[in-house]
Amino acid sequence: MTTSTNDRAGQAFGIDIGGSGMKAAVVDLSTGELLSDRFRIATPQPATPEAMAEVVVELVRHHGWDGGVGCAFPAVVRNGVVESAANIDTSWIDVDADKLFTDALGSGVRMINDADAAGLAEVRFGAAAGRTGVVMMLTFGTGIGSGLFIDGVLVPNTELGHLELDGHDAESRAAASARKRHDWSWSHWSKKVEHYLRHVEALFSPDLFVVGGGVSKHPHKWLDHISIDTEIQVASMANNAGIVGAALVAP
Ligand code: BGC
Repeated sequence: MTTSTNDRAGQAFGIDIGGSGMKAAVVDLSTGELLSDRFRIATPQPATPEAMAEVVVELVRHHGWDGGVGCAFPAVVRNGVVESAANIDTSWIDVDADKLFTDALGSGVRMINDADAAGLAEVRFGAAAGRTGVVMMLTFGTGIGSGLFIDGVLVPNTELGHLELDGHDAESRAAASARKRHDWSWSHWSKKVEHYLRHVEALFSPDLFVVGGGVSKHPHKWLDHISIDTEIQVASMANNAGIVGAALVAP
């Protein structure tokens, strides 16, 4: 059933764009709950801006949504423009994604970095709700994403997955994908993550780390092996953090 925008007060539409899938849902902005099914379409290959714009339109039409849309995306995004491409197609660099998607859809789209989006969701509704001070969201997946919050206010595009650690790009050792690529045991990988967290801890002295990404579904496999001085909370929004955070910034 298609509902008009007027019936949708307090709701927004979020899309979480990843390397393998693009997921979307209608979100209740007062609770962070999904109000629709979580519809997923495989990310087109090659994942060019034009091909992804078509999928964005398909996701929005599937839900019969006719208002603004927020998009979480795995790159630096400033004023709608994509400025990095660590794990995405390089044709994205310098693309004004807000304009491209808005033109394709015919209604407003706002794009935000994926870890910033996940952090917004966790700070508003999840593991960091009600927390003040310096909160650092870190997502462990194909890369490492970071979202820095000071008294609940986001400092966008921190990109701490690319800190240099022992002469390497940190995410090449401590992202979840590194464990699989190197065929490391969970405990071996967790020591890499611990080393990384200690480095971030020394630089930022956060009050709280929130750790997310697919690996946060089974924290006992790795977090139990990690010992640092800062409190760590496992993300509580699970797979929905990107969608919910994206919805929070929808125009
Ligand atoms: C990208 C970040 C992104 C992170 C998680 C990194 O490789 O540079 O922008 O947030 O992966 O997807």
